[in-house]
Amino acid sequence: MKKRNTYKACQPDRRLFFKLGLGSLFVTTFTSVAAALKFLTPPIQYETSQVFEAGKIKDFNSGKVKNMQMGEKKISLIKEHNKLYALVRTCTHMGCIPNFNASENAFVCPCHGSKFDIQGNVLRGPAPEPLYRASLSVNKKGRVEVNTAIVENHVTLRDSKPFALDV
Ligand code: FES
Repeated sequence: MKKRNTYKACQPDRRLFFKLGLGSLFVTTFTSVAAALKFLTPPIQYETSQVFEAGKIKDFNSGKVKNMQMGEKKISLIKEHNKLYALVRTCTHMGCIPNFNASENAFVCPCHGSKFDIQGNVLRGPAPEPLYRASLSVNKKGRVEVNTAIVENHVTLRDSKPFALDV
């Protein structure tokens, strides 16, 4: 009677073991290189421009509020006392959008009831500070440009160039 070699049947196949090792080495190397390349690539975010044309100075009537949407920002352009300024309608409490209420001649925030006068000053809280004004300039075509990337809300600074244009 021939004896079977049970020891050899239970031994792992060396070639299979080698292939598994090579495969896992390849996967590890590939993922490491991919992670390193991702790390070396700067995360670029393309933002939309924050400079917008809002029209000619003569397009704005004294004492009137002209609401505009510029990208994601809601702006109100206001001409009064020979000045033109652009209020950024983002509530300084928690960032809701105050709406102009013509009967009250004020901006009222729908979230917690803050109220701002036409110049952006707080009339009623909880908003802690005035609305911001965006920078304004007149371009070569004679059109008013609003730059929502540059803003100011301090009373003395916001009342002169570039946050208030003489018109
Ligand atoms: S977000 Fe405007 S009052 Fe709270």
